Amino acid sequence: MRVALMILLGLVIGILGTVNVMGALEARNPMPKAVMHTMGYHMGELGRAMKARQCAAAGIQQHLQRLQSTATDIVPVFGISDKGFTDKAAELQTRLQQALQAAPATCPALAAAIKPIDDTCKSCHQQYR
Ligand code: HEC
Repeated sequence: MRVALMILLGLVIGILGTVNVMGALEARNPMPKAVMHTMGYHMGELGRAMKARQCAAAGIQQHLQRLQSTATDIVPVFGISDKGFTDKAAELQTRLQQALQAAPATCPALAAAIKPIDDTCKSCHQQYR
């Protein structure tokens, strides 16, 4: 009985240790989440601009540019070489480029420019998040 209890205790301690180590490993590399949160912030600001009906071209361009430069960090930071993943990251680049070129200056134009970007965020999340 005593031995069984000691074995059980050992197992529990081992499991707790593993959970801790995994947590520490994840905490050590905050970059994947940092990249995503940065993009989430800029998408959020664009959404807010649309809700407030304040879609000045300059502000929009700034957020789109920040999205574009941040998106270049996805592949190196996540370190996922799966083709589906890198394809989605490339698709995001293309769509951000197109939105920047479209240079939306009104809320409806911004909504149209953002839709394909949002679709790419969502489809990658469905597969890889
Ligand atoms: C190439 C794939 C891919 C694309 C494209 C992508 N994401 Fe992500 N995203 C992920 C993955 C994978 C996670 C989960 C990260 C984790 O839990 O470490 C994630 C998580 C997130 C999170 C939650 C972060 C957290 O702390 O859990 C936010 C916010 C986010 N993404 C925003 C965006 C936005 C906004 C876009 C589009 C502009 C986008 N993502 C495009 C793969 C992608």
